[in-house]
Amino acid sequence: MARRASTIISQDIEHIIQDLRDHFQALRGTTLLVTGANGFLCSYFVDTVAVLNEKGLNPPCQVIVVDNLQTGFSERFKHLEGRKEICFIQQDVTFPVNLDQRVDWIIHGASIASPTLYRQYPLQTIDVNVIGTRQMLELARQNRVRSMLYLSTSEIYGDPDPVFIPTPEEYRGNVSCTGPRACYDESKRLAETLCMTYYRLFKIPVKIVRPFNVYGPGLRLDDGRIIPDLMKSVLHRQPLVLYSNGRATRAFCYITDAVCAMWYVLLSDTNGEVFNVGNDEKEVSIRELAESVRQIAGPPWLEIEHRVSEDVDYLKDNPQRRCPDLTKLRRWFPWQPKVSLVEGLKRTLCSYLEGSVINL
Ligand SMILES: NC(=O)c1ccc[n+]([C@@H]2O[C@H](COP(=O)([O-])OP(=O)(O)OC[C@H]3O[C@@H](n4cnc5c(N)ncnc54)[C@H](O)[C@@H]3O)[C@@H](O)[C@H]2O)c1
Repeated sequence: MARRASTIISQDIEHIIQDLRDHFQALRGTTLLVTGANGFLCSYFVDTVAVLNEKGLNPPCQVIVVDNLQTGFSERFKHLEGRKEICFIQQDVTFPVNLDQRVDWIIHGASIASPTLYRQYPLQTIDVNVIGTRQMLELARQNRVRSMLYLSTSEIYGDPDPVFIPTPEEYRGNVSCTGPRACYDESKRLAETLCMTYYRLFKIPVKIVRPFNVYGPGLRLDDGRIIPDLMKSVLHRQPLVLYSNGRATRAFCYITDAVCAMWYVLLSDTNGEVFNVGNDEKEVSIRELAESVRQIAGPPWLEIEHRVSEDVDYLKDNPQRRCPDLTKLRRWFPWQPKVSLVEGLKRTLCSYLEGSVINL
């Protein structure tokens, strides 16, 4: 019997496999390279393939995991130790990745994604987004890959004009190129330019996705993003602290909905296209999010407190509203977000209570 990542994550992976079904046949006998896979989002791609192989994908899909563990979790794949078809390379992707086998697919997700962490490591953030992406595009070119997926971000829109909420892919953004978040936003924008340049010059079959606030099991509790912060407070029986007035809004997307969308895009021939990925069901304020977490967590004593962060840049250039226009994604793929915010928060909290995730 194969070892499992965690009960909740195993159920999530089953949902992903059920959703895409025959689309995964394209992976038979091929090799997938995933960067940033010791992180939250990209670990789901590795777990998807591991389970597909267990279920008899024939020939199995080989997976190469590349991560320098800058923010990733070294124990993430303990359940996959000893698996012959999965190879782990601890490496910084700003340097060439030397491989002794051909790669057919690349999912490039390595980055420093938490605002708290990218403000702490601005140069590494710029390097991984720009140099790391160039390295992966070169690898894609040398290997003549079937498809490459680049995980960009909704942050490339900056703080959108409310007229452009929900935000379509054509919106060009309202981004500061000098502020404390620019190291992330601007380098992701340049990474998209690199992808499109390689597509135009060398016909690299690259696709870009822009995830909007994806959350779920496996987010590090010390990551600094709002949902793990609230979950950590619940687990430690401490007040839910908001370092803002709580009025900014976001549309949160549960991981399975995001990962299904990304698999569809990777396995398609939508080369040179950009897709928003998220959940447009409900735009909630950060205060409403905290109230939902309080209701789910239960204890009536759990307070919501507003404080001022000691970090003077904490709220600088923070988008006031963020909600995706998903018309394009729905037009191209048989995809719908399925997991409501309440259900997703319950699953996330359960996964932390299950003790499967680090830094409790
Ligand atoms: N989670 C979201 O809501 C969200 C939203 C928008 C964009 N994204 C993008 O999706 C991708 C994955 O995000 P995540 O939330 O899983 O973040 P994460 O921090 O959990 O994972 C990122 C991984 O990249 C690795 N990494 C960082 N620098 C590296 C380098 N130089 N070489 C090799 N590996 C390196 C880290 O160690 C980590 O394991 C990122 O590109 C991020 O920008 C995520």
